[in-house]
Amino acid sequence: CGIVGYFGKERAAEILVDGLEKLEYRGYDSSGIAVFQNGDIDVIKCKGRIQNLRDRLESEDMSGVKGIGHTRWATHGEPSDLNAHPHTNKDGSISIVHNGIIENYMYLKEWLGGKGYEFLSETDTEVIPNLIDYYYNGDLFEAIVKATNKMEGSYAIGVLCKNEPDKMIAVRKDSPLIVGKGEGETFIASDVTAVLKYTREVYYIDDNEFAVIDNDGVKILNEDGIEIDKEISHITWDAAAAEKGGYEHFMIKEIHEQPKAIRDTMTSRIALGEDVKLDNIEITKEDLEKINKVYIVACGTAYYAGVVGKYVIEKMAKISVETDVASEFRYRDPLIDENTLMIVVSQSGETADTLAALRLAKKSGARVMVITNVVGSTMAREADDVFYTWAGPEIAVASTKAYVTQMVALDILALHLARLKGTITKEEGEEFKKELLALPEKVEDALKHKEVIQKFASKNYHVKDMFFLGRGVDHAVALEGALKLKELSYIHAEAYAGGELKHGPIALIEDGTPVVVVATQEKIFDKMVSNIKEVTTRGAKVLAFATEGHEEIEKSVNSALYVQKTHPLLTPVVSIVPLQLFSYYMALEKGCDVDKPRNLAKSVTVE
Ligand code: G6P
Repeated sequence: CGIVGYFGKERAAEILVDGLEKLEYRGYDSSGIAVFQNGDIDVIKCKGRIQNLRDRLESEDMSGVKGIGHTRWATHGEPSDLNAHPHTNKDGSISIVHNGIIENYMYLKEWLGGKGYEFLSETDTEVIPNLIDYYYNGDLFEAIVKATNKMEGSYAIGVLCKNEPDKMIAVRKDSPLIVGKGEGETFIASDVTAVLKYTREVYYIDDNEFAVIDNDGVKILNEDGIEIDKEISHITWDAAAAEKGGYEHFMIKEIHEQPKAIRDTMTSRIALGEDVKLDNIEITKEDLEKINKVYIVACGTAYYAGVVGKYVIEKMAKISVETDVASEFRYRDPLIDENTLMIVVSQSGETADTLAALRLAKKSGARVMVITNVVGSTMAREADDVFYTWAGPEIAVASTKAYVTQMVALDILALHLARLKGTITKEEGEEFKKELLALPEKVEDALKHKEVIQKFASKNYHVKDMFFLGRGVDHAVALEGALKLKELSYIHAEAYAGGELKHGPIALIEDGTPVVVVATQEKIFDKMVSNIKEVTTRGAKVLAFATEGHEEIEKSVNSALYVQKTHPLLTPVVSIVPLQLFSYYMALEKGCDVDKPRNLAKSVTVE
């Protein structure tokens, strides 16, 4: 989502909508604005692209000069007029826009419900204006401080209050927020793109800092109301670079967003000492007792997330799992009945083959679950159970942050099913959760290999073929690593299960053939080392990815990189990161169009 705010002398509506259009890349399933007008706050919001809002505004008289705006990427509640922001309290005297996720919104809804508050939307956001209302006693700043103390999760919010028409307040925690300083006007926004047209002087607001804007300009306060001495930054980026947060491409930006995407996907679902909480998944212990087979079906990168999911669900929930690509599944008369659980995985929730597989399974009586990144997508609407990955909009065609969150979703699902079935103990579940919760930091750490990988790419980008080897979940990672390299750098890449090497591909290994080896699995580490020997004796140049503590691998390979140790079933989430970086830098060296590789599309809605 993206938020904007304007406080000045011009017509706010125009400036807000213009800012929202600049933020459209952050998601655009609905949008809205709230403007101070004739002693009131007028709210206009609607589903669809920002152009819809523009059209709506044509017939409205919005001449106010102070307001807030929002473009939405749904997380809680499907895209609709009602779920669109701004959200208000009951009498409309407090209006807010929000980017982030309020983790304890269920608790807050109940708590406020007990005090007579009612809720109209399905969003987590709606608790915020009501909380502020609850604490409001003539001092907006104080009410917001109290409200934010009660809120858990991530937020950047902009607030208007009818009783204080000469004020606009914004605050953040774990979601981006900037304040733009103009001549006699002040802006707030999720990022600088929205304000670049008007000013290049901005404050980067940090967590728990409050921007209090009035006719004299802006003051940045801490929660005790004490002014913070903030340095102003002068932006030199152009608009295109700003959209990418200063990165050269969306893909590399999205690779760096992975720790946050994973954290968001786990948020409010798993916590130590508590049962897994899955909002839109209603499968019960009794339902599960009937299930004797699970299919995981998807296309492309989502399919490779499914390949990892098979290992995790089988191991934890002890149900046999079959994975298949959707285009094959739908035409092979698969054995489906009411004892089948079908899990489809799709970033977009719209891929034609995956959707057809979902419909086929549903028609045959299976229980259908979808893991998707797009709230309200066709698959989300048609499935029985939905698990939303909260990766945020993914713009680069090659999937990165959606992929890691798909794996995390499958991990959480496996844990949930295993606990329901009782196939793992509470303690084992806690141990697994601990490892899950530590993933964002480990992924962050894996990003540090950038320079070494870049160097390796600069020496090897001219190769024609590459092989990727791995066993177990490492094989799944090898498959995704090879796909990424193909998609981005147009280098022929093939992934093989380590043990299959001798049954064919070894014939292709010659002097200098580059081979990437993924070797993170303790139990089969020695087997992988044997595979490395098999290829190096035939002249292969090996780049290995292993876990820390296995530095002995260096004796057998040309280069090795290490990621931090985690639960063996969770290593793919960490070890894929250097492979993503690898394909990114190979493509850069070759001068390929990283964000839009030739012949590919982000969402394939034809068969
Ligand atoms: C396209 C994209 C891939 C993606 C696949 C499945 O081929 O280029 O990156 O993995 O579709 O997309 P979905 O939206 O169903 O995950």
